[in-house]
Amino acid sequence: MKTWYEAIESAQNVERIEEIRIAIFGKKGELAEAFAAMKNAPDDQKASIAKELNEHKNALGVLLSERKAVLQLQELEAAMKAEAIDVTLYGPTPLRGALHPVMETMDRIVDYFVSMNFSVQTGPMVEDDFHNFEALNLPKHHPARDMQDTFYFNDQMLLRTHTSPVQIRTMLQSKPPIRMIAPGSVFRRDYDITHTPMFHQVEGLLVDKEGAVSFANLKFILEDFLKYMFGDVNVRFRPSFFPFTEPSAEVDISCIFCGGEGCRVCSKTGWLEVLGCGIVDPNVFEAVGYKDVSGYAFGLGVERFAMLIHRVGDLRSLFEGDLRLLEQMR
Ligand code: PHE
Repeated sequence: MKTWYEAIESAQNVERIEEIRIAIFGKKGELAEAFAAMKNAPDDQKASIAKELNEHKNALGVLLSERKAVLQLQELEAAMKAEAIDVTLYGPTPLRGALHPVMETMDRIVDYFVSMNFSVQTGPMVEDDFHNFEALNLPKHHPARDMQDTFYFNDQMLLRTHTSPVQIRTMLQSKPPIRMIAPGSVFRRDYDITHTPMFHQVEGLLVDKEGAVSFANLKFILEDFLKYMFGDVNVRFRPSFFPFTEPSAEVDISCIFCGGEGCRVCSKTGWLEVLGCGIVDPNVFEAVGYKDVSGYAFGLGVERFAMLIHRVGDLRSLFEGDLRLLEQMR
């Protein structure tokens, strides 16, 4: 019996305490055996043996539960230490969505023209020959149709190659004066570092009474717009050709990479082409039945603006959905 005292004191875990308890107090434990053996003892010793055994029983019972309580506490503390959570540590940052750089650029462009009282119009992406070409002074077999590599469904239906058909739809649906922009996707059979088969344009059209709209008006608003988009740049109008405008111009800004000195991006010219524009061709007004009016129109590629603003070299990378790249453009 006596050796148990030390065994209990030196037990190192709750499991060991339980083993000891069973060895002493179990049905076949040492106490049960000792009490059973008592019947063979001489009668006059039975009382003192019983007394001694009961004293051990009480003392060992108390010692066991005290030691068990101490060990339980130790084990609990060890477990808490091992499983502790450091609430001051940083967790992984959850991914947050954001506007795509192209849409962000589009919003900025739209914001400018809305602030200038232009309304926002939309039209279908699946267009017909009349709205996309014919009414825009691009009759069948006109060589200028080659400027736009078209996705055709059949003779009549196609994916719009520019947002200019929205000019036609808007003029057919309303009466002058008109002040509209048309942002949207357009489609061309093209794929290289500066072309993707789908891209975005913003079209602009202003129509008012005959003689009320001049090239100077067009020049003023586009210069103001380009300074709003690119900051303090020089703007230059270069004679060009579009079937639906006459006269027509392409508009350049001084290169935002080299400041106009000439670099790889501007092909050493010091200028970057950013949009097309002109005075609406009388044939366009005739196609929609407008008389005694004058107007200007312009069109620009949103991706081109986004590439310049975010300094992206390859247009296709805007559409690959690579989050690492897109996040750099925040
Ligand atoms: N539609 C022309 C294009 O896609 C752009 C443009 C629009 C030019 C309006 C002049 C006037 O290239």
